[in-house]
Amino acid sequence: MTTDPTTQTLAQLGDTTPEKVTARFAEVRVRFDRQAGEHSAKKDAEEWKGFVVAWTGRKSGVLTNVGDNWLKPAAKELKPIVGQEFQKLKAHVEATLEEKRKEIEAAAEEAAAARDQVDLSLPGVERAIGTRHLIRQTFDELLRIFLSIGFSVVEGPEIETPYYNFEALNIPEHHPARDNMDTFYIEGSHAGHLLRTHTSPMQIRTMEKQAPPVRIVVPGKVYRRDNPDSTHGYMFHQIEGLAVDTDITFCDFKGTVQYFVREFLGPKAKTRLRPSYFPFTEPSAEVDATCHVCGGTGCRVCKFSGWIELFGAGMVNPAVYGFVKYDAEKLSGFAFGMGVDRLAMMKYGITELPLLFQNDVRFLRQFP
Ligand code: PHE
Repeated sequence: MTTDPTTQTLAQLGDTTPEKVTARFAEVRVRFDRQAGEHSAKKDAEEWKGFVVAWTGRKSGVLTNVGDNWLKPAAKELKPIVGQEFQKLKAHVEATLEEKRKEIEAAAEEAAAARDQVDLSLPGVERAIGTRHLIRQTFDELLRIFLSIGFSVVEGPEIETPYYNFEALNIPEHHPARDNMDTFYIEGSHAGHLLRTHTSPMQIRTMEKQAPPVRIVVPGKVYRRDNPDSTHGYMFHQIEGLAVDTDITFCDFKGTVQYFVREFLGPKAKTRLRPSYFPFTEPSAEVDATCHVCGGTGCRVCKFSGWIELFGAGMVNPAVYGFVKYDAEKLSGFAFGMGVDRLAMMKYGITELPLLFQNDVRFLRQFP
């Protein structure tokens, strides 16, 4: 660039004839055309700007230099030809730059359009929204049935006192019924707090708070120190039921249970009550239903008995009313407690309880 002839006057360059002037302009034009060609190939925005400034910049662009150094101080007789050549060069440079600018802009637009293009034929992004867990689904189904006949839902604490979990349910301290409910006690609790072994404490809590009539179901988690195997864990789910009023009979109990079984297992299911024992019900019963697999004729699932055990229940033991200051002379009622996990496994033919808690989507997907 130091030898750029446009920084010198024509006199300094020794261009004293019109021919030499024309040749000198031709030289500049060739230089411009070569550089313009290089730049349009690169299309780098910064480089392009630099190129434009180098040629048309007001301060020391080539055109300005030609005007200042060649035209202005030109000898009188050369001035017309210098002026003419200058105008030609100027017009050529400006036209070329304008043309290239349009080209570059169009190319940039095209590239941007290609980048932004949305292909509407491509499949969209699908986000799985998941499903309700089978336990939740079973809860919903069970609660729906009881809500449909006038029960309402209440929930209670998972950490209980021995009073609510045992005493008030007519299970005194050394009662053998405490043994088959191996209990987790909370370490360091002076009150002997424990993880509830069943949802039955909510019978007491509800009756303490509420005058009869009572018609509640209680969904929730319960905990027992069982050895884990294919049907046992340290936690499972129950739904407790309690109905107390002035005129509830064993027939109401049986009718409610029957209605429930038909709703849950289908209209063909039959119900059977088998004598059982719970300290807080008297009489107590195990509720069985005809096997949902064979319909009662006997198969492997029901161990060829035709019956499947569903849950424990009974008429509320009048001794319980004493703990909640209900009038045992006037009131009667029934209660039940069902294992939700057990019912889900039975209904859906699941033989391994742990599957319900491992949350393997290959398992969960089977219950959309
Ligand atoms: N609480 C009992 C259990 O967990 C079930 C039950 C509830 C039985 C209510 C009768 C009445 O085994």
